[in-house]
Amino acid sequence: MQEANEKIKVTRTTASRLAEVDFEHLVFGKKYADHMLVADFDGKEWKNAEILPFGNFSVSPSNAAWHYGQAIFEGIKAYKDPQGNPMIFRPYDNYARFLTSAERMGMPAIPEWLFIGGLAKLVDIDRDWVPTGEGCSLYLRPFMIAADEFIGVRPSETYKFAVINSPSGPYFNKPIHLLVQDKYIRAFPGGVGFAKAAGNYGGTMYPTMQARKQGYDQILWVDGYEHKYLQECGTMNVFAIIGNTAITPDLSQGTILAGVTRASVIDLLSDMGLAVEERPISIDEIIDAHKAGTLREVFGTGTASSVAYVEQLDYKETKIHLDTTKYAVGAEVIKRLDAIRTGRAEDTRGWNYKI
Ligand code: COI
Repeated sequence: MQEANEKIKVTRTTASRLAEVDFEHLVFGKKYADHMLVADFDGKEWKNAEILPFGNFSVSPSNAAWHYGQAIFEGIKAYKDPQGNPMIFRPYDNYARFLTSAERMGMPAIPEWLFIGGLAKLVDIDRDWVPTGEGCSLYLRPFMIAADEFIGVRPSETYKFAVINSPSGPYFNKPIHLLVQDKYIRAFPGGVGFAKAAGNYGGTMYPTMQARKQGYDQILWVDGYEHKYLQECGTMNVFAIIGNTAITPDLSQGTILAGVTRASVIDLLSDMGLAVEERPISIDEIIDAHKAGTLREVFGTGTASSVAYVEQLDYKETKIHLDTTKYAVGAEVIKRLDAIRTGRAEDTRGWNYKI
């Protein structure tokens, strides 16, 4: 991208840390590649765009993001095709969502040369950091934070945008156990549930800690009015396979993140011949289907996790155990998704952005 080449300065590291990383045993989000991208919004335009060695920021204690939470992010993955060429999976979809999140949080838009062009340049420079092991990828984390040094409550005038990238292994390495509870609510209509805002995650920490104490991995979030309509599970979108139909909550209430993996899985499930329904689905419907023997699978989808099988789903006195070794639909969908994003299957929908 010409504009990115003209506007993004590049300062390469002279001391790569690549040799320090054990690519055979990658975990999620612990190691960071040699370079990062940073840029500043001065109230009018984005400037000082630079790819430089990964390192700390110096931030004032009065930084507005720390106090009032104007902070958004994205999660995107890069893979290599069989010839070793890096590709980013559906970055334009994440770019669109980043703009949506920015608008909702009163933050400035990011130009395409900076977001897409910046990601492409960064992955190009850090291409040796893109892992090729099963379930591994280079996880790209673009984010924007308020930058004003001011603790009065108003939208910040200045912002910082940055992208760090992390060679990562699977997010969950085993099937998950979910608790459905009606005490804590993740999102209400009119709120920020659809935005990838930092506070959405901060607000879930305490309830999730409580669930973990009871032996669960995550919470299956339900709506705040009737306490029964599914929203998300943990940080993922949720799918139930009932008979030959895949059901996932629709996005109309503005309480659910429009997952890029969710959208991909919807298309792939249709390709596999399942009926896909985006509509409200209640925990009662899941329980009834389980009782009737038609509930085949429940899984979460997300960029970090890809597809996470649900093994246990508990709601009040009802305990649903699912045999994830029989998850034919989930297994097939992740197989197809992986084949496309690693260039081993034809990318008929143009999802891969080649570097
Ligand atoms: C993702 O799936 O990319 C997420 O954002 C989830 C989590 C790692 C925050």
